[in-house]
Amino acid sequence: MFNPFSLTDESGYQRWRRARLARPAPSAARLRVRLARLATPSEAELEAIATRLASDAMVLIETSPTQLDAAALLALGHALGLRRTEANHFADARAVSRITPTDGQGDGRGDYIPYTERALNWHTDGYYNAPDRQVQTWMLFCLHPAREGGENHLLDPEIAYLRLRDANPEHIAALMHPEAFGIPAHVVDGQVLRPEHCGPVFSVHGGRLHMRYSARRRHVRWRQGPETEAARAALDELFSREAVFTFTHKLSAGQGLITTNVLHDRSAFTPAAPGEPARELLRIRYIDRVTTDSWTL
Ligand SMILES: [Fe+2]
Repeated sequence: MFNPFSLTDESGYQRWRRARLARPAPSAARLRVRLARLATPSEAELEAIATRLASDAMVLIETSPTQLDAAALLALGHALGLRRTEANHFADARAVSRITPTDGQGDGRGDYIPYTERALNWHTDGYYNAPDRQVQTWMLFCLHPAREGGENHLLDPEIAYLRLRDANPEHIAALMHPEAFGIPAHVVDGQVLRPEHCGPVFSVHGGRLHMRYSARRRHVRWRQGPETEAARAALDELFSREAVFTFTHKLSAGQGLITTNVLHDRSAFTPAAPGEPARELLRIRYIDRVTTDSWTL
């Protein structure tokens, strides 16, 4: 039994590395799966999604925009075997978040970059969650794109792991440390909305690599020491350097991404002109992962 994510199993790592790099880089043509009926996918469509997630960690779904709503997305997730949603502060009761610039409702959303027109830096979702509430899957579907901007870059954490380990295995050791990366408690008016959480950047669950990361500079607590500093610098550099396996895409209406919580960012975008719909996306996060035997029809 080999373990490619163990630093003591070099030959296992090399075998896995060769196989991973032999797969084609992600492109819209490679990742695209068309769904005739978003809420009731066929067995062949579910298999196509699961296959793409297993090999590329992401899939680009296309459906007609008229089919796209929260209920249809939840039904798709259910059909894929995704049961346990992970709701953030602004998600609705079904854990669906409507990602659109705040219209000044005064609920505090405008303090969070996702709900503005500003660029979002590289991260995985839910990096501030407790260890047992880590996001394993997210879906992000577009109701209305921005006229200009709002493009995503995505990168499979397996590629990040591989590039860093090739550069220096000590980067991996630093990023797998149980106290590598912490998020201080979120306290508002003396009330703890979220306790502090600390954990590794890279971890392995059921043989699969998981990554929790944010490139943000504020409200994060990295472990002190030169090894962690060097690993962080290598990660920062990776995002500007890794072009081959980075998937760049601007979602159009009716398109969506489902991923195994890959690294991603978002470019800034133009505000809606008068009479034009605002950029609007629907997002659901799950702590479940799609496996080829997990879907139900
Ligand atoms: Fe995100």
